[in-house]
Amino acid sequence: MSVEVVTRYKEADEILRQPSLRQALYEEGAILMKDVLVNLFGEEHAQRRHLAQKLFRRDYFRNYERNIFPQTIQETLRPFVEAGGGDLSDFGYRVLMNLTADASGIDRPLRTPQETATLLRMIRSFSKAATLGQLTVGDKGAIRKEIVDTLEEFDAAFFSPSEARRRALLDAVDRGEIAETALPRDLLTILMRNEDKIDLPRDKMLKETAYFLFVGALSTTHALTHALHHVFTWRAEQPQDEPLLMHEPWFLQRCIWESLRLHPPTPELSRRLTCPVHVKSRQEALDADQLLVDMFKVNQDPAMFGPEAGRFDPHRADPPQGWLYGITFGLGTHACLGRILVAGTPIKRDSDLAEAEYGNMYLVIRALLDHGARPDPDRPAEMDTSNTRRNWLTYPFLLDRG
Ligand code: HEM
Repeated sequence: MSVEVVTRYKEADEILRQPSLRQALYEEGAILMKDVLVNLFGEEHAQRRHLAQKLFRRDYFRNYERNIFPQTIQETLRPFVEAGGGDLSDFGYRVLMNLTADASGIDRPLRTPQETATLLRMIRSFSKAATLGQLTVGDKGAIRKEIVDTLEEFDAAFFSPSEARRRALLDAVDRGEIAETALPRDLLTILMRNEDKIDLPRDKMLKETAYFLFVGALSTTHALTHALHHVFTWRAEQPQDEPLLMHEPWFLQRCIWESLRLHPPTPELSRRLTCPVHVKSRQEALDADQLLVDMFKVNQDPAMFGPEAGRFDPHRADPPQGWLYGITFGLGTHACLGRILVAGTPIKRDSDLAEAEYGNMYLVIRALLDHGARPDPDRPAEMDTSNTRRNWLTYPFLLDRG
């Protein structure tokens, strides 16, 4: 099989917009991924995406980050403040799991540490479906069985009760007993309503919901720890920028976007060709079997991000095309639906902040910095060196108590 690696921004931009390319990253994880949005092709993908997009509208992002998420952050932060710190990945998973559970439509009626721990365990299990193709050690069969067992458990413990509550509400709307505005705003409600009348049996809804749950929590947790590490390091090395960091939203957003550029949580995107593809940036048609978009290289393309593209620099000039975070959220056909929820809309020095979407990474990092977050000098952070993703395994941090 011939594989072509794409490393230039302009090429990646053109290629990822080609509708004839088929997703190729999740074939090994088909047990969960086969029928989920990111893995669909052609008309089936367009229809499902159209339905899912009904959730991701501006008023949803706005309401979520202004009225719901701040409370979730404070609730999650409280025990960490009482303890004077903790571990960033543990904190990140807890806070972001709540975010993606809200977006997915998975109720957590008990709100107990036990319930959170159970859902976290399930998310960790589901996330293995996305990386099964890149696994070099371990028993793939055993992992597939674990995913199937976890799906069953998830169905009984979380999906069925969430579905039943929504079914009752949807029926009440149909009978005219409650207003539509009383319905929860989440993916599961949208899938169950299925206004577009697409083919969507229960099993597909179950897997789509499980996918949403893990995809957001997993990638954002790693992104959060990387961004905080850069913020801590920048603050130590560039103390003159401390006022910008603490008081200027545009600057903190640039730190986060710059970190997202340097640490794309998905290291490569993969597509299978269904026919030769012509793009303007290449003279010859692409006719390899598979294309791999190297996210690290594309995001450090000097043509877009300058000669020192590998450095973290929140003062870097904006690229001539696209955003400072590069193609971290993908582009084109499968571009991330959670992008604005995670990273917000661009904030400039003179932006009207009443109109700004900050994104949940900003809100979490802001809350941590406001509580005095800093690395724990007695417990150095550890990086996972077992793969090329270079994520933080542990990142102990301190907070001001009280
Ligand atoms: C730092 C956080 C995140 C990053 C870096 C990220 C990145 C990406 C990327 C690169 C893709 C494209 C995959 C491809 O082209 O093969 C994608 C797709 C997607 N993302 Fe995200 N994502 C993040 C968070 C989220 C969140 C929080 C949600 C939902 C709550 C979400 C929902 C989706 C969905 C539904 C798709 C599939 C879209 C489609 O295939 O049409 N993501 N994401």
